[in-house]
Amino acid sequence: MGYVFVTRRVPGRAVDLLREAGHDVTVWPEDLPPSPTALRDNLLEADAALTLVTDPVGPDLLAAAPRLRVVANMAVGYDNLDAEAAAAAGVWATNTPGVLHETTADLAFALLLAAARNLVLSDRDTRDGGWVTWSPTAFLGHDPYGSTLGIVGLGEIGRAVARCAAGFGMTVLAATRTPRTEVERELGVERVPLPELLARSDFVSIHVPYGPETEGLMGAAEFAAMKETAILVNTARGGVVDQDALVRALRAGAIGGAALDVTVPEPLPLDHPLYGFPNVTITPHIGSASHATRARMAEMAARNIIAVLAGEEPPNPVNRPPAPRPPA
Ligand code: DGY
Repeated sequence: MGYVFVTRRVPGRAVDLLREAGHDVTVWPEDLPPSPTALRDNLLEADAALTLVTDPVGPDLLAAAPRLRVVANMAVGYDNLDAEAAAAAGVWATNTPGVLHETTADLAFALLLAAARNLVLSDRDTRDGGWVTWSPTAFLGHDPYGSTLGIVGLGEIGRAVARCAAGFGMTVLAATRTPRTEVERELGVERVPLPELLARSDFVSIHVPYGPETEGLMGAAEFAAMKETAILVNTARGGVVDQDALVRALRAGAIGGAALDVTVPEPLPLDHPLYGFPNVTITPHIGSASHATRARMAEMAARNIIAVLAGEEPPNPVNRPPAPRPPA
């Protein structure tokens, strides 16, 4: 059977599934991802790779992995993986759709609430001894209830965020190119152009995939169009936001704050100016980080590998090699 390289320890039964299917599996044992050289060395003999968002897979790596037939990315986003180059090399590329949208939406909403109600700031202050009395003026936030949420990108995650917002009595606007859905009608989501969404929203949550079309989508003009009290939430990809423009907007008080689960680069260096703003919350790309969801993602990636190595099409392809590589 095949030799599978898994680029980090993953939760759930993924590795067991691969072994039960008869494959020889090596799991990278370190906490940090393999370096590009280590990744290349480990893929030299591999028939399949289970990769993460931290593993860049491009044409050079694919060329250096002559047996490789599938790269199964354990993420719904696959901007780390050049799916077209993989197809040209005869290698399937797959992702993990449909299993992490609720979990990621929960995190987006948790960030929204945390930013709106100063959770992180007040927790830090409490630990620093700042809780000396009940104060009628300390840590005043903004009510999500009755406010307007603008969702940029109404795919699975965006729609799950819209459901959370409906539960909190928010008006929901969406700027999106996705086909209209029943859920959207039921929730009363109003589709508007992005400038209108930015002008009307108290919270703006980003849910578009990252790529050439969305790189820097939130830039100086977009921050200038937002309300001075509005909060930006980003659980998509850091590159969708022009971070320098965000820093300038925060310095100028052009927006009310930001809650970011994704940055450029990741991790964000500790001397980055974004850490200097009390109205910015930063989490370490944990959108899909629940026990159940990460297990489902890893198992889905394993099933994609098992299918390809059995000579079948993978269930979750993001490319279609015209001439898939045969078994070596
Ligand atoms: C994804 O699936 O794209 C996430 O960002 C990884 O958690």
